[in-house]
Amino acid sequence: MESPLAPAWLSHPQDTAALDPKIFSTGVDRKAGEVTVQGLGVSKLVEQFGSPLWVMDENDFRFRARQYVEAFNTAFAPLCGGVDVFYASKALLTVQVAQWVKEEGLFMDTASGGELAVALRAGTDPAKIGLHGNNKSDAELQTAITKGIGRIVVDSLSELRRVELLAEQLQARANVMLRLTPGVDASTHEHIATAHEDQKFGLSMSSAPGQEASVAYQAVHFAAAAQHIDLVGLHSHIGSQIFDSQGFETAATRMLEFIATIDAEGIPVAELDIGGGYGIAYTEADDPVGPEVIATNLAQHIASETTRLGVECPRISIEPGRSIAGPAGMTVYTVGTTKTVWVEHNGQHYPRRYVAVDGGMSDNPRPVLYDADYTAVLANRVSDAEPVFSRVVGKHCESGDIVVNTVYLPEDTEHGDLVVVPATGAYGHAMSSNYNLLTRPAIVAVKDGVAREIIRRETYEDLFAREVDL
Ligand code: LLP
Repeated sequence: MESPLAPAWLSHPQDTAALDPKIFSTGVDRKAGEVTVQGLGVSKLVEQFGSPLWVMDENDFRFRARQYVEAFNTAFAPLCGGVDVFYASKALLTVQVAQWVKEEGLFMDTASGGELAVALRAGTDPAKIGLHGNNKSDAELQTAITKGIGRIVVDSLSELRRVELLAEQLQARANVMLRLTPGVDASTHEHIATAHEDQKFGLSMSSAPGQEASVAYQAVHFAAAAQHIDLVGLHSHIGSQIFDSQGFETAATRMLEFIATIDAEGIPVAELDIGGGYGIAYTEADDPVGPEVIATNLAQHIASETTRLGVECPRISIEPGRSIAGPAGMTVYTVGTTKTVWVEHNGQHYPRRYVAVDGGMSDNPRPVLYDADYTAVLANRVSDAEPVFSRVVGKHCESGDIVVNTVYLPEDTEHGDLVVVPATGAYGHAMSSNYNLLTRPAIVAVKDGVAREIIRRETYEDLFAREVDL
């Protein structure tokens, strides 16, 4: 029965066994009733690697990575030249993942010394690495300079001065890109929108009251004149989980107008990075358009804007993270306790079934942080029991510990069953914690029908590993 408690977008499923291809990775299927990845059943994977388990469909990850390279180069080549695709490693990074990225010909965007260390450990060519961060330490900047990484994406005037000084001390040159905030209000959750004025990232393109030149303008002139800085180009990133191309286009226009202004002053800008942020489908309500459409629209927009402004098309780069790693991953959980509560709505009471699983906000804090919606399916078998309005929750000591806020699951979903939550490849493991001292799941990569652990499950010994005085 359809529940009046359900949000408008959630449809009552005809078939609770169905796997929506826009949400699941391309290698996911159901065989003999069981959810499989590249032909491997989830029960087998859990038997071998434990529960909960992050499963990465490596073929799918590589496919999406290649798709970005191909789609953007195909769309931009005739209009504007080649495109460098930087994988935003904050979405998911392990040494193995960095190797997939390298093998598929992508560059690597890092956002901390730790991410940079993993990228280097995987043998990524430093010239193909970018380093982001609104508050990089001297140590992070020194590493970036001495390793000769391709672009230090400088976020503020004070950082720019520090980079010049550090490069001088190291008797080296620093490759610098400047991150500007083009003043775009991206339509996404407030915590992941990054190009409006009133937030911490980037050099503002608008002038302060009583001041003539914007901080962005001052930074460009400083970088162009600096003795130890090579100005690689400009950067903007409007936010994350964005579906609407309007924000990207507005940002590109403002960046190109700015480029035209400084070009006229004799400072050419060779490269423009337009960031990442392409949305993915977490539930049936999301309709991402895919890299070909994004690339085609952006290429046409950028080409026509450069013509209008009479500037040369800079070399474009992009930084997708979620849209490569997200759909490739899923989390397998084991069902523990269940209960049904009666919830009042417009004077009547309706049931909501709680299905508790063996993980939660420690392996996926996105629902609690951003009210993010997900979906789930019964994975170890199919059931013809009635779909009931359910909420999948974790095992943490917080009532906000929600894994899937609203979903219809078969009524007989019970203790010992497996449920799969798709689209958890990005910002799941990356943002996981040890809250309540839960041990983090393993990550298993499945490639061409073969599964291997790329991150092992955490043990209680790991929990003691940093205790100093045992
Ligand atoms: N480039 C820059 C400069 C970024 O700050 C980000 C994401 C990306 C690229 C990649 O964006 P993506 O393509 O993955 O959307 N933890 C949040 C997302 C934070 C994104 C931060 N920056 C979440 O789970 O939704």
